[in-house]
Amino acid sequence: MNYNTEILTADKSSIQKAAELIKSGEVVGMPTETVYGLAANALDPEAVSKIFIAKGRPQDNPLIVHISRMEMLEGLVTEVPELAVKCAKKFWPGPLTMIMPKSDKIPKTTSGGLDTVGIRMPSNKTARELIGTCGLPLAAPSANLSGSPSPTSAQHVFDDMNGRIPCILDDGRCAVGVESTVISFERDCIRLLRPGFISVSDLKEVTDKVIVDKGVLDVVSQDAVVASPGMKYKHYSPKADVTIIDGSLDSFRKYVADNKTKNTWCMTFSQDDLSEIDCPAVIYGSTDEEQARRIFDALRELDKHGAEKVFARCPNKTGVGLAVYNRLLRAAGFQVIKL
Ligand code: TXA
Ligand code: MG
Repeated sequence: MNYNTEILTADKSSIQKAAELIKSGEVVGMPTETVYGLAANALDPEAVSKIFIAKGRPQDNPLIVHISRMEMLEGLVTEVPELAVKCAKKFWPGPLTMIMPKSDKIPKTTSGGLDTVGIRMPSNKTARELIGTCGLPLAAPSANLSGSPSPTSAQHVFDDMNGRIPCILDDGRCAVGVESTVISFERDCIRLLRPGFISVSDLKEVTDKVIVDKGVLDVVSQDAVVASPGMKYKHYSPKADVTIIDGSLDSFRKYVADNKTKNTWCMTFSQDDLSEIDCPAVIYGSTDEEQARRIFDALRELDKHGAEKVFARCPNKTGVGLAVYNRLLRAAGFQVIKL
């Protein structure tokens, strides 16, 4: 692993080049509408194992398989539940991953040893063209080092993967900014394993039986058997010690004023939140959607500033806000102060 990593503007010729690399068993940085991914041939265990090495990812954490057309689904799974057909019609292409029983074509390396596989059809044009040009399903986790915030720009991928992969296709900033919604199916219910841009109320348009898995908002112990292995790993951790302050703006300001030390930073919704407090800050947006787009960049920015302690304003826990809250909770190691 000692590549001269190139950032290539995503166009026809760079997509062709990236596809050739993937077909020869290499790993490439791929833009999607959610976050950047590390893409390799999902059907080739050797290529997939290079993803785990590049990320430093635990072997039992399964990868999502990306397709560009409905016909590609055939042969990858042994059963497509009726609810999955409905969700595909409504949300694909887009930021939704569906867990289904895997066929023998998907190697255990890709599925982290599980008998199921998560499938997603991204809407990002470059991703779709790359998958189409390869003519292969692509396994792709988020393109960060394991445990770091997910990358939402080609530069973020470069910061983590320089020397570890041959190239990154640069398609600008990700439109959504948080990873896909992950769901599984149980009889006539949808189980939400990871919240994303497709929200609980979006899913309820397909069935009103939507169960939010306990792991979405609760700490999962290291030795627990969980529905989605990714839930038990420490995630998105900036170097700073992050605490979520769950309360009104006034109580936030007072808490910061009373508790800040020399190298404390704030993570706020707007510049306005900062009036009356003398504390440097990274602003991550005032709507759920903007916060989703900005959260990972904000966490990386705090590291660049060398922040030691961070007090973050608490996002909404509904709609896309639930996805932002879920990521921030992990970045904060579940430290929440309710005021
Ligand atoms: O938006 C996304 O989903 C991005 C882009 C690149 O597509 N990918 C992504 O992959 O976030 P990753 O590997 O960082 O997160 C995948 C999550 C993990 O928490 C994993 O445990 C879960 O999905 N997952 C994958 N396959 C699964 C399966 N068969 N059963 C349960 N959970 C699964
Ligand atoms: Mg990830």
